[in-house]
Amino acid sequence: MDFNVITGTLNTLKTGCLIIGVFEKNKLSASAKDLDSAAEKYLSRFLKKGDFKATIGETYVLHDLPNITAERILLVGCGIEKDLNPANYLKILTHSAETLNTVATTNAISCLPELTLKDLDLRWKTNVATRAIITSTYRSDTLKTQQAEQTSRLKKVSWFAADKHAANSMKKGVDFGTAIADGINLSRELGNLPGNVCTPSYLAELAISLSNQHKKLKSKILEEQDMERLGMGALLSVSRGSRQPAKLIIMEYSGTAKDKKPVVFVGKGLTFDSGGISIKPSPSMDEMKYDMCGGASVFGAIKAIAALELPINVIGVVPSSENMPDGDANKPGDIVTSLSGQTIEVLNTDAEGRLILCDALTYCEKFKPDVVIDIATLTGACVIALGSHATALFSNNDKLAQDLEKAGNTSLDRTWRMPLWDDYQEQLKSNFADMANIGGREGGSITAACFLSRYTKDYRWAHLDIAGSAWIGGSKKGSTGRPVSLLVQYVIDRCGKSIK
Ligand code: BES
Ligand code: MN
Ligand code: ZN
Repeated sequence: MDFNVITGTLNTLKTGCLIIGVFEKNKLSASAKDLDSAAEKYLSRFLKKGDFKATIGETYVLHDLPNITAERILLVGCGIEKDLNPANYLKILTHSAETLNTVATTNAISCLPELTLKDLDLRWKTNVATRAIITSTYRSDTLKTQQAEQTSRLKKVSWFAADKHAANSMKKGVDFGTAIADGINLSRELGNLPGNVCTPSYLAELAISLSNQHKKLKSKILEEQDMERLGMGALLSVSRGSRQPAKLIIMEYSGTAKDKKPVVFVGKGLTFDSGGISIKPSPSMDEMKYDMCGGASVFGAIKAIAALELPINVIGVVPSSENMPDGDANKPGDIVTSLSGQTIEVLNTDAEGRLILCDALTYCEKFKPDVVIDIATLTGACVIALGSHATALFSNNDKLAQDLEKAGNTSLDRTWRMPLWDDYQEQLKSNFADMANIGGREGGSITAACFLSRYTKDYRWAHLDIAGSAWIGGSKKGSTGRPVSLLVQYVIDRCGKSIK
């Protein structure tokens, strides 16, 4: 898909489809007003008929308006003007992208970034708009012998800018939106690939190929014997029950001076979670192919950050393994020694995410990180607590938590902070080891975070439990690509003025 930014006079633009916003109660947006006066009030007359109510995301295609060069006008409902907010803005963009994909045109011009949103600039609005178009074209059909019918003929979208100055900000928005959307789509594709294709080795090879595409990106893979030598007894205890060798994938993006401390992302890359000997029930077990979505989001974020060449150092770490039942698998009651030296009683082999993450988190100390953020489909309890809209956020540092909350709000990829109080730590007591790997049913996502907190004392750390937000189940089953846009936005915010 090609994007550009154009200026000009609306009624004489040559395009297959001109996209404009309309508010409820027949209120026209700025561009709609311009068109209406050029078209001898055609729009006003049409709206009065009442077929189109302009509720959020409602769409309607008009043809051959008088004195208008555009072949079609795609009207998009924007709701009540004063109620317009960022989440609705994204909805407006997504719905217009979906309708646009059904229209028989190869090119379109959209005026939607002109909509006024408090405190949000044209760069942000064009970023989100570009993201909506690109993510709407993603299809998970790489393993179908007949590709899903390509309904969309769309090849080029131009964003309409009021003047040259606006056009410059909007061009940056296109770059940001393109990079973020490509990262989101990569993350979704990895999530949707089945466990027999997307194995730890598959992810390791992807890291190598990404680093071959970007000068500033290097990758390194630790094999099982390397992890053995280091003493990663917790991670290796999970992969012992699997025929697929575990990999610890490290991607280092160097966007600024070597002595600048890196941001480190650690993503759970469990390519299939059967539960192990504490095996999961069969219904929906296929969805445990999504247990690597934390890792997938690290791949997506690193890809976007490298594409934007952001002036910052970022390291992505993906501990990757399967969790399978086997003669050599972890057994309930087994005690393993983690890289940190702390011992863990594995009371439930299905609480494997924390076992692979704790060793990866200890390993991160060597990077002398500024912050470490882990992303994991860690607990079913998180889905019960927050459902699918919010990612659960835990942190040992208030500033980091606030920065992530803010980045989540800006990128429309939101988090909700959860407690990490010492009171919960007691639930992890074991009679035989330093800790148990489960803390009972109560506050399950919190005790999981408490477990990780025991391995992250030496740096500022945040944990994102994406068990509810990473994928959608049911008939629309598929990965959401969350929280790629949150992670990239966090990094963009940290770069601050240097990229304005
Ligand atoms: N990958 C799962 C968590 C999960 C379950 C995410 C369902 C999304 C939907 C994780 O490895 C797991 O199995 N966690 C257990 C922990 C329990 C045994 C303490 C869980 O949540 O049931
Ligand atoms: Mn599990
Ligand atoms: Zn899991």
